[in-house]
Amino acid sequence: RKTAFNADDIRALKGQRPIVSLTAYTTPMAGLMDAHCDFVLVGDSVGMVLHGLPSTLGVTMDMMVMHGAAVARGLNRAMMVIDMPFGSYEESPAQAFRNAARLMAETNAAAVKLEGGVEMAPTIQFLTRRGIPVMAHIGLTPQSVNTLGGYKVQGRAEAAKPLIADARAVADAGAFAVVLEKVPASLADQVTEIVPIPTIGIGASVGCDGQILVVDDMLGFFTAFKPKFVKRYADLGPAAEAAIADYAAEVRARRFPGAEHIFADQTPAPKE
Ligand code: KIV
Ligand code: NA
Repeated sequence: RKTAFNADDIRALKGQRPIVSLTAYTTPMAGLMDAHCDFVLVGDSVGMVLHGLPSTLGVTMDMMVMHGAAVARGLNRAMMVIDMPFGSYEESPAQAFRNAARLMAETNAAAVKLEGGVEMAPTIQFLTRRGIPVMAHIGLTPQSVNTLGGYKVQGRAEAAKPLIADARAVADAGAFAVVLEKVPASLADQVTEIVPIPTIGIGASVGCDGQILVVDDMLGFFTAFKPKFVKRYADLGPAAEAAIADYAAEVRARRFPGAEHIFADQTPAPKE
């Protein structure tokens, strides 16, 4: 499927106007955001928000393929980017290529996203030189939660320099954009000025070239916890629970189904 936006278009938006993006995991949700987002990310956050996993570490290639194919069916305009799950790319550039190629072939994604900076630069270069556009992801990289010691702000104080080095490395390696997650706003602004590719912020800065949020967070479906950087634009989780409670009460009271929801034994005779 050919969408209106591709990696070059996203890159070219730097300095022009803010880039809008959200995550999606299903066809109907992708359909709702297609007209409003420049790109849609099939994030490995799917493991936490839809599958009840405690982190993104348990997300598999098969899960990404299934959700990616579903999202693609909902998009006509927005570009689709898909996350490479933990364990599918870190071993070697060749392993990364094999799995990225499978994600693209089986889901129609136009690009992959992977986590890591300087250490992933050779892999980013390997993929981009072989036809796979790569979005990088630096700062807080949730697949590394066990070595980062938790979901902490990254790049504060003396950690700013290595983060800038990560941004430069992924841009030099050919990434078409870079996600900056949970870094100080001033550092995000600095990185945005330094690198020639768009920065996509999440818990970063209003000065980034674009923004992304996890859709279940911003709609209020995922309520297990709320990171500071999440803005709830709606409270659909509580609204859904209220509807379910109404249904349960009506079934117990034999008020549902009503006359308008049931069928007569005979088709009514046509009226004159
Ligand atoms: O998996 C995800 O949702 C992400 C975004 C938060 C950038 O990687
Ligand atoms: Na992710």
